[in-house]
Amino acid sequence: MQAVLPLKTERTLAELNELRRQTAKEVTARAQLEFQKRQSDAPTIELQRAWFRSMRNVLEEVDTAVRCIPTRTPWYFLDIGCCPGGFSSYILNKNLFATGMGISLPVESGGHSFLLEDELHPRLDLHMADLTYYQLGPYPIADTRLQPLPFSDHQFDMVLLDGHPLRTAPESQGGGRKRMSDRLLVAQLVICLKAVAASGTLVIKLSKPERVVTAKIMYMMWILAADVATWKPVCMHATRDTFYFIAKGVGLGRGKALWAQWLWELQALWVQLTWGGSQGKGRTLEEEDFDFVVSTQEMRKYFGERLGALSRPIWEVQKQSMEGWKKAAADGF
Ligand SMILES: C[S@@+](CC[C@H](N)C(=O)[O-])C[C@H]1O[C@@H](n2cnc3c(N)ncnc32)[C@H](O)[C@@H]1O
Repeated sequence: MQAVLPLKTERTLAELNELRRQTAKEVTARAQLEFQKRQSDAPTIELQRAWFRSMRNVLEEVDTAVRCIPTRTPWYFLDIGCCPGGFSSYILNKNLFATGMGISLPVESGGHSFLLEDELHPRLDLHMADLTYYQLGPYPIADTRLQPLPFSDHQFDMVLLDGHPLRTAPESQGGGRKRMSDRLLVAQLVICLKAVAASGTLVIKLSKPERVVTAKIMYMMWILAADVATWKPVCMHATRDTFYFIAKGVGLGRGKALWAQWLWELQALWVQLTWGGSQGKGRTLEEEDFDFVVSTQEMRKYFGERLGALSRPIWEVQKQSMEGWKKAAADGF
């Protein structure tokens, strides 16, 4: 479900889309992407360490921009898709009173290794598990693959969602990548709305704010939370479509009464994505799946201006980074 909003008046987005089109055709860019894919499918330990440091820098950038992690207050966080561990490392080093729980795919299922500094291990409770196979439905489901969530509801001051679909994961094979990626997204949204405490903070990795599904997720958090912001890291993946969305004061927004209802709808959607479809083997997301939050028309009417303000800096950073990459490629790097 890749439908995009018709934001034709946005000049930066139009220029970015043109760059995306040109880059997709360029031999050098395609070759570099293929090389990066091969590297990330079987990363060396040096590369994994470099990712770990980069992820720490990414969260530092987000925190410097939006001030979301306190220095001294006791702080309990849930780090979803936590390996190699850069986010947890940043929080635990910054705040000596912080403790956390991390959930990440086991290495034998294609996940990344855990590289958190040894001395920080006692403050992070690590669960190596496939997060899409917890009991995430609105009612318990009799399926032996599902295990109970390792926490009780609304415990965490902060929830970070950075789970990323991996090509090496078994479910990604045989054309299942899109279905897996959609299940991963919705499973993470269920987990964050169950896990975050009232007035807590969410940090969510999303892709392309102009996508209808992305925009509706941003709208959902805008309604539930006291304040929202976006940040596109420049230290990593600046030419990619991903960015971080930060929601502070969850449950303090004007639509706080909708929290439980929207959580239930997301849980029902996760059931559909896992067991729905014509053969009962699950399905991919469809544009209307997020209509329980808001219709596309109403979202544009009430959220369009704010969506533009949240999106423009992301498009601008990606555009400038792609222009820089293009120039470097033309100059032979
Ligand atoms: C971009 S990395 C996250 C990096 C992390 N934020 C850090 O600071 O180091 C994405 C992570 O999502 C994990 N992941 C992907 N699919 C998952 C799944 N189904 N269940 C749990 N973790 C998953 C991967 O193993 C990988 O460690």
